[in-house]
Amino acid sequence: MKKRTVAILTGGGDCPGLNAAIRGIAKVAMLDFGWDVLGIKDGYDGLIEGRYWKLQNSDVSNILPLGGTILGTSNKANPFGYIAKKGDAPVDVSDRVVENLKKWNVETLFCIGGDGTCAIANRLQKKFPYIIGVPKTIDNDLLCTDQTFGFDTACSFVTESLDRIHTTAQSHHRAMVVEVMGRYAGWIALCGGLAGGGDIILIPEMPFNYEKVKEAILERSKKGKKFSIIVVSEGARAQGEGYTVREVISDSPDPIRLGGIGAKIADYVENETGIESRVTVLGHLQRGGSPTFFDRVLATKYGVTAARLAAKNDFGKIVALRGTEVVGASLEEATSGLKLVKKDNKLLRDAISLGTSFGF
Ligand code: F6P
Repeated sequence: MKKRTVAILTGGGDCPGLNAAIRGIAKVAMLDFGWDVLGIKDGYDGLIEGRYWKLQNSDVSNILPLGGTILGTSNKANPFGYIAKKGDAPVDVSDRVVENLKKWNVETLFCIGGDGTCAIANRLQKKFPYIIGVPKTIDNDLLCTDQTFGFDTACSFVTESLDRIHTTAQSHHRAMVVEVMGRYAGWIALCGGLAGGGDIILIPEMPFNYEKVKEAILERSKKGKKFSIIVVSEGARAQGEGYTVREVISDSPDPIRLGGIGAKIADYVENETGIESRVTVLGHLQRGGSPTFFDRVLATKYGVTAARLAAKNDFGKIVALRGTEVVGASLEEATSGLKLVKKDNKLLRDAISLGTSFGF
């Protein structure tokens, strides 16, 4: 195979499996194809500012079980609206990025990221049409793929946390509210909540009614169940109300950070039912630590498939899980919206059949 130089970046929030994906791409590129591999530091920031190093096999050995990313990441950097320092106006530096890639003789750029990173990759491919996307995010909200890596680890953590919360809930006869991440998608709450036996699950896609939440808790009390576990997505909102915003980060391409709805629900439940309530926000613990077996395998398959697509010059693609197969899907299509929980989602319907309340 003709020698070439390829580059890898990780963008957006970190998640378990990033190193497994980097390793998958880099090992196949180096060992199978004999290519040079550049590791771009801190996502698009490194691409803009010219920060990278040539990866050696030793750099990508023993990183499979590591959380985070050896390359570093940024969820602020955007070549189409670069803010060099806080307060500066955003500048389009995408041409500089293309010049850098050419200067370093890069013939393929692998962008590992969520919807933000992949949307930027899709814009960039109009100027540098040698890009392959790799979908990661604990939120699992990327179109075109059955699952992103990071999601399984996050849900496993939510499940374990709910198991632990159950003991206090049962012993103290309390309503325990657990707030999970996921932004505008309810996948973590739905899947983690189901696995952890949540009694009420509130997700952004289906705005809830406070009265229905109260009814579900009182109904359980009537049946002799003296505790309730309420799993709430950070993006959940009551009917007719907006999202609960924790923070606005002005220099981020996606400035809204959600959070705080769990505390509102706990207050409501305690005031309206008289049942003592507590809230636990799982936060960034969901993004940390070592990837699960599933995420290690998925991220590895994604990395290997991405390298193989590059070898076939099959660009403009994002690797995607379809059933048990990993295939190349259109990057354009994958970044055309968000994958959200639909009303007819099978797992949602199953949970309703099991008696789980979704507050509507
Ligand atoms: O997209 C991943 C995610 O963890 C979301 O679930 C969450 O809303 C957001 O990132 C938090 O972002 P930050 O790390 O900037 O607080």
